[in-house]
Amino acid sequence: MESVARPSELRARVAAWRRGGERIAFVPTMGNLHAGHGTLVGRAAELADRVIVSIFVNPLQFGPNEDFAAYPRTPEDDRRVLESLNVDLLFAPEVADIYPRGQESTARVHVPVIEDILCGAFRPGHFMGVATVVTKLLNIVQPDVAVFGEKDYQQLLIIRRAALDLCMPIEIVGVTTAREPDGLAMSSRNRYLSPEQRAVAPAIYAELERARVAIEAGSSDFASIAARGAEGLRQAGFRPDYFEIRDAATLEEAGEQSRELVVLTAARIGRARLIDNVRARRKL
Ligand code: PAJ
Repeated sequence: MESVARPSELRARVAAWRRGGERIAFVPTMGNLHAGHGTLVGRAAELADRVIVSIFVNPLQFGPNEDFAAYPRTPEDDRRVLESLNVDLLFAPEVADIYPRGQESTARVHVPVIEDILCGAFRPGHFMGVATVVTKLLNIVQPDVAVFGEKDYQQLLIIRRAALDLCMPIEIVGVTTAREPDGLAMSSRNRYLSPEQRAVAPAIYAELERARVAIEAGSSDFASIAARGAEGLRQAGFRPDYFEIRDAATLEEAGEQSRELVVLTAARIGRARLIDNVRARRKL
């Protein structure tokens, strides 16, 4: 597997494939790859002739008190994983390749309203950083299709909105969340969990599922369902940032008429902040 760091080198490789009429899929990541990233790569391979993966820990999407410095960086392991998945090209730029004039003065992508709710309310600037770097990466790679995980549900909707509103000729594909056998969503941040915290972590998926079952059984008392979910997480030892039931297409508050819903939570334990979500369908 070839690996390039400079956007110009990446462009040259892609241009050669494109001249050959090949279809290109792209999977952006921050590395420390796990089986969840693997399912994205698998989907990308089904959708295109060539698969490009990027590894870039994007400083612009981390707040001043967040884990940018501590974020797990495992380049050798990641390389092996990508080789075994038959990825065609690894794009691993340095911060200066992506922000040549510094991250403070870069042009930025905002997706109003949706960037400020849920995780956006607890991580100011985070989704601007995500939308900006993903736009840059998509402009560098210019793939036919880009693949993202539903695990980061709000991120996926924000990227879809940015791609649509900014007229990017790129198909955005979402992939179901990969989970550990006990239900915990795979995440690079699971590494921050002590054995005791890891043991209680499946409570997140359990509470989301409990909410989904209540919704699908016909209850529309979303406030009570959400309050019970947050309380369940607190009893398991988490400090929930939010536990919410929202419209799956817009992330607006769910109402009596909402059919496609999503239950989302972000909860802290120790130094880890974990997020997860499940979809729920109501028969009206
Ligand atoms: P990262 O957390 O490395 O995730 C890269 C991609 O993998 C994202 O699309 C994410 O939703 C997906 N993913 C993570 N865990 C998953 C799981 N358990 N199942 C399925 N997919 C999963 O998300 C980012 O990086 C960054 O914000 C990025 C989009 C790369 C921009 O910097």
